[in-house]
Amino acid sequence: MFAEYGYADSEEHKRQHNELIAQVVELKEKFMVNPQGTISADLMLFLKRWLTNHIMRTDKEYSEFLISKGVKY
Ligand SMILES: [Fe+2]
Repeated sequence: MFAEYGYADSEEHKRQHNELIAQVVELKEKFMVNPQGTISADLMLFLKRWLTNHIMRTDKEYSEFLISKGVKY
């Protein structure tokens, strides 16, 4: 839909998702090395940042853009 409707921030959005994937892989590797370890603080910070910075802001921007183009959900 980004390509279909010409969303200008498409590449930046994809970059953020790729960064998310890399962070999830890193957290998984930490967990696999030390399942009893203390990654919960890292994980909580990561999830908080993703929720507040990406979902609440970046995703909302493209949602508003697509709605302005007449896309229905
Ligand atoms: Fe997103």
